[in-house]
Amino acid sequence: MVRDKEKPTIRRLTGDVGDMKRGLGVSIALSVVAGVLVAGAASGGSWDERVFGSHVDFDAVASAGPAALTALIERGRELFKAKFTTADGAGRPKATQAIIPTKRKSGINPPFSRTSGPDSNSCFGCHNDPIEGGSGDDIANVFVSEGFESAQFDNIDPSFSSERHTIALMGAGLVELLAREMTADLQAIRAEAVAHARVTGEPCRADLVTKGIRFGWIEAHPDGMVDLDSVDGVDADLIVRPFSRKGVFTSLRQFTINALNVHHGMEAVERFGVRWTGSHDFAESGVPDAITPGDVSALVAFQAALPPPTVKADLPADWRAAASEGAKQFQAIGCVSCHVETLPLKSLVFTDPAPYDMAGTLRASEAKALIRIDLSTFPFARTLQKNDKGEWLIPLYSDLKRHLVVDETVNALGNELQAQRFVERDVFLTPRLWGVGSTAPYGHNGAFRMLDEVIVAHGGDARFSRDAYLALDPEQRDSIVAFLRSLVIEAP
Ligand code: HEC
Ligand code: HEC
Repeated sequence: MVRDKEKPTIRRLTGDVGDMKRGLGVSIALSVVAGVLVAGAASGGSWDERVFGSHVDFDAVASAGPAALTALIERGRELFKAKFTTADGAGRPKATQAIIPTKRKSGINPPFSRTSGPDSNSCFGCHNDPIEGGSGDDIANVFVSEGFESAQFDNIDPSFSSERHTIALMGAGLVELLAREMTADLQAIRAEAVAHARVTGEPCRADLVTKGIRFGWIEAHPDGMVDLDSVDGVDADLIVRPFSRKGVFTSLRQFTINALNVHHGMEAVERFGVRWTGSHDFAESGVPDAITPGDVSALVAFQAALPPPTVKADLPADWRAAASEGAKQFQAIGCVSCHVETLPLKSLVFTDPAPYDMAGTLRASEAKALIRIDLSTFPFARTLQKNDKGEWLIPLYSDLKRHLVVDETVNALGNELQAQRFVERDVFLTPRLWGVGSTAPYGHNGAFRMLDEVIVAHGGDARFSRDAYLALDPEQRDSIVAFLRSLVIEAP
């Protein structure tokens, strides 16, 4: 436990809040003409330990257009790797890791805690395997807790939190774009069904299918009511949430704000600032308004622009032959019913803020202009195939849908005790398998050292294909491993 006497230390390190504010407020962070960031007047010398000599101004970046993008992404990379300091506002002495601003009930949160956080000094501290933006070793696992009352805990018992293995962020912009298009499709199907029921005076049943993925069905009634009981693998609001092991977060922006608070005690103004909490320093770290909307956008831009994983190029002949056989088996035994090889994407234009976020994450409607990142201009776009409709085929090996993966006899993946956001304990989002050859260990908590082990652990809705895997002869099983190990994350 950390005693209250630590608090004066924090205060002394950060100095007078008013001074800090004046020091940081001096300059807007982007010089669009030069296309680079200009550091604000730091109070110290060039050895200053602070990460934030200046902040990114969202409106300036959004109105600057493409000219500001390179600098924005570079700033995002810096922030992703930055070791936030006390003088930047790192730490949350009086707040918890809860994603809705929640104060500690008593006492002071220690500077670092491996369980309820802050648990790391930088995003890169976990997302570094095998390159920046990647996954993490088991040592980087996170203990996720939603409980707003119980977000303080000091042991790793699953009755307090769910242990999760770091997810690689490669291709994350493409993933979010797919989810946005799927959401738009599903919501359009709902709107059409409602309109149809109204016009005909008869109930209207509609299948929720987007990009070839079926999310159950709905029935709309003439009075405007919609029966949602048979919606499957997505929330009742029909927003496809592609992030986290459970598939409960909508956008990189929303996740980034969560991560900044959970892992680093860096609070974004758009959620923890005056508008929602009445305070400039909700966590009482001594530094007001630590993360501006522009800073969040820099982190989002960096992640959105990360190239997707690739297929290992220099495979030895025996591995190449096995991988090609494995790809066939992967299809034949139904792995592709969830780990869908490619999903088609109409547009590669990533806009920030995102269209479907809720209060506490800057929303598109609240921004004067949007930041537009056209991913088709990035070198990695040349590696993507297109279908005959001209849509980009994103080879992610996921349906971005949630599935039950546990049953009575195959239940190793059923270790979590807490439901998250209305999603049952044994239900998880189909993970993208692109890059899986670089991100061992496997499973939501990284409990499986080998691919074979996690494949055999599939139960529930995946039981049929796991049983088919076990029925293959050993060479055929091994060829699936050869195939999966050829899907890698490599430095561009
Ligand atoms: C202590 C380790 C750790 C740190 C530090 C960390 N992350 Fe993560 N990250 C994780 C883990 C573990 C997950 C999976 C969480 C889950 O499933 O609930 C994750 C998931 C994510 C996701 C969702 C990816 C997906 O495809 O589902 C994003 C986005 C992300 N992190 C961004 C960040 C950013 C930005 C930072 C820094 C502000 C950061 N992370 C810091 C461990 C970490
Ligand atoms: C019903 C849908 C479904 C089917 C079918 C399915 N999977 Fe999965 N797969 C999932 C889900 C969901 C997870 C996440 C499980 C977890 O971590 O709790 C997963 C996890 C994995 C992982 C671990 C990924 C990681 O990064 O940790 C691998 C590898 C994998 N599946 C391969 C396969 C193979 C091979 C097959 C065919 C034998 C298959 N899956 C069939 C849904 C499915």
